[in-house]
Amino acid sequence: MPPTSETGRDDGIRINPSILAADFANMQAELARIATADFVHVDVMDNHFVPNLTFGPQMVERVQATSPVPLDVHLMITDPDRWAPGYAEIGAASVTFHLEAATEPVALARRLRDIGSRAGVAVKPATPVESLFDLLDDFDQILVMTVEPGFGGQSFMPETMPKLRRLADEARRRGSSVWLQVDGGIGESTIAQAAEAGADTFVAGSAVFGAGDPAHAIAGLRAAAAAHHIH
Ligand code: DX5
Ligand code: ZN
Repeated sequence: MPPTSETGRDDGIRINPSILAADFANMQAELARIATADFVHVDVMDNHFVPNLTFGPQMVERVQATSPVPLDVHLMITDPDRWAPGYAEIGAASVTFHLEAATEPVALARRLRDIGSRAGVAVKPATPVESLFDLLDDFDQILVMTVEPGFGGQSFMPETMPKLRRLADEARRRGSSVWLQVDGGIGESTIAQAAEAGADTFVAGSAVFGAGDPAHAIAGLRAAAAAHHIH
């Protein structure tokens, strides 16, 4: 692989393809197609917090063992206080749980960091971000959902952008190094507005795995995000 200066991977932009859009029966081959990504986004759904069911720790452990890039686990589950640490123990580089589902989000973030993973918190489109302003130091990543969580292939919700912008402004004001992630409906036509609003970490399912050449799709998304990212 060429050095980072040639791949543009030192630009503070992260592109994280979601395996929700991959062929589950050929996961090893699908993972090999996204070796130029920064992380692989792994959507865990419990058919309770969201009306869909994907997979649990056993599958994530196999993805961890097989993936060429680190894991960005997105837990759409009830009672993350009980279950999230297990994903950090598997070796996931990043574990994100939903604010709406957590009982003690700060204590949970501390546990995830203690185990050795980055700690992330996610908010659904209708959940305000202001309660996170005093918690920026407790998290390594904040995920602003740009669709209702539960399914891939939905349309990007532009009405979530003012919230992202407020969060990015506040993070900048406080000198925070927290990563701001967006997830849902991100593709060539929507990534610019999310980057302009302050996102630096982008999940894309169908836009990457639905493309004939995922590496080309990743490069295109990366270039579009870098061109519009604000610092
Ligand atoms: C939705 C998931 C997303 C999903 C994104 O609940 O959290 O990660 O895979 O898929 P696309 O990019 O197709 O909207
Ligand atoms: Zn996700």
